[in-house]
Amino acid sequence: MAQAEIGLIGLGVMGSNLALNIAEKGHAIAVYNRTTSKTGTFFETAGELRERILPCNSLEELAAAIRPPRPIILMVSAGQAVDEEIAKLRKLLSENDIIIDAGNANFHDTVRRFNELEGSGLTFIGMGVSGGEEGARHGPSIMVGGTEQSYARVEGLLNDIAAKYEGEPCCAWLGPDGAGHFVKTIHNGIEYADMQMIAEIYGIFRDGLGMEAKEIAPVFAGWNKGRLNSYLIEITANVLAADDPRTGRPMVDMILDRAGQKGTGRWSVIEAQQMGIPATAIEAAVASRSLSAMKNEREAAEKAYGGLVLDQKGAISHDDLELALFAGKIGAYAQGFAVMTAASREFKWNLPMGTIAKIWRAGCIIRSQFLGRITDAFGLDNQLDNLFMAPSFIEMMKEAHPALRRTVAWAAEAGLPTPALSSALAYFDGYRQGRGTANLIQGQRDFFGAHGFERIDQAGEHHGPWGSHG
Ligand code: 6PG
Repeated sequence: MAQAEIGLIGLGVMGSNLALNIAEKGHAIAVYNRTTSKTGTFFETAGELRERILPCNSLEELAAAIRPPRPIILMVSAGQAVDEEIAKLRKLLSENDIIIDAGNANFHDTVRRFNELEGSGLTFIGMGVSGGEEGARHGPSIMVGGTEQSYARVEGLLNDIAAKYEGEPCCAWLGPDGAGHFVKTIHNGIEYADMQMIAEIYGIFRDGLGMEAKEIAPVFAGWNKGRLNSYLIEITANVLAADDPRTGRPMVDMILDRAGQKGTGRWSVIEAQQMGIPATAIEAAVASRSLSAMKNEREAAEKAYGGLVLDQKGAISHDDLELALFAGKIGAYAQGFAVMTAASREFKWNLPMGTIAKIWRAGCIIRSQFLGRITDAFGLDNQLDNLFMAPSFIEMMKEAHPALRRTVAWAAEAGLPTPALSSALAYFDGYRQGRGTANLIQGQRDFFGAHGFERIDQAGEHHGPWGSHG
């Protein structure tokens, strides 16, 4: 083999699959892993793709194996490992080489790394990759941040390996420095909310309506044919239908109710808070994972307070639950896109919202038909403050919010938690309330701290008649 077109460092699950994907699409790739035995195993199991894979046992070998100017993908654990690899590569690479971080990096780190490499002759791309193992192998959704010129140099290869939606690659340059990793972070925040809301509806089926996993599975499978059609609904049906090979019982009933989290969901909420943008449904999803981890405390509290209340009159309909999930989903996406809109302004990224929704239609974890509607809603001019205000979404929410209301109320009466769905509803109700209650907050602030308020009938700052406080 002549020299490779691209290099990849880090042959974990995502790295190995991405490397195979690249080789399969006809691009020669040089690969390196710190534990070199892994490189050997990877190469041995690559089958006929071996003819386009160059296994390397050192970074020096890797650099020599790639045709300059070299693009090198880093697929190592986010954080310090990325900085360490960059430091080593800086000594080996030359003018115009591109380092592409394809891990789930915090975008602040990406911005820092981008700036640190500026002027060194090397360029840095921060690239969000979504789709898990399967996506990496056969076509992920790819969110790129960096200079447009550096993207132009790898665009062809990235389009080849990306997922396709009706023939269109789910890959795009989204903006400078940290833009790609920021968008990936918000993707994950939305992913958390989507998953949490599905789990809340599952809880209503299981604990409120007394259904077995096997009975709930076909309901989700049915919903997957309608407005909720999405990868997450599809896999929910599959997870609920599976049996535990060890006990023969439903697999889902044998899984401990304690969720893990690696940090991207939390970052999305932190960034939303920093910018003063409400992302309550996403926040509720992150907090629910944290609460899920407190298994012992939850068990003790159930003993102290009792569990379900279940004293409502009548059952909630499956149609209401389907529509409630849809309305909640709209709320979560409205929040996620509002956070990206704010970040786009704050960091001067000019994020293309319609394109973001477009490249999420296939390959990524939150892929769904619904994203096409978001692309249409943003149109070409990107001028939409909130998804709730797009004419098509006004129609959808008008149809769906009463069901969300009934579902949240029913669950509350039953003593079943629906934190993400409830937050989405409260956000919607707050968003569409022209006259809110912050006048009282302002009165209180002025009373105790002379913070001043605006009047409805006069410009300027005013104080109330609170005696010595006024
Ligand atoms: C994706 C996933 C992927 C990964 C997350 C899950 O888009 O492919 O989001 O990035 O599964 O790390 O995050 P948690 O471990 O925090 O659930």
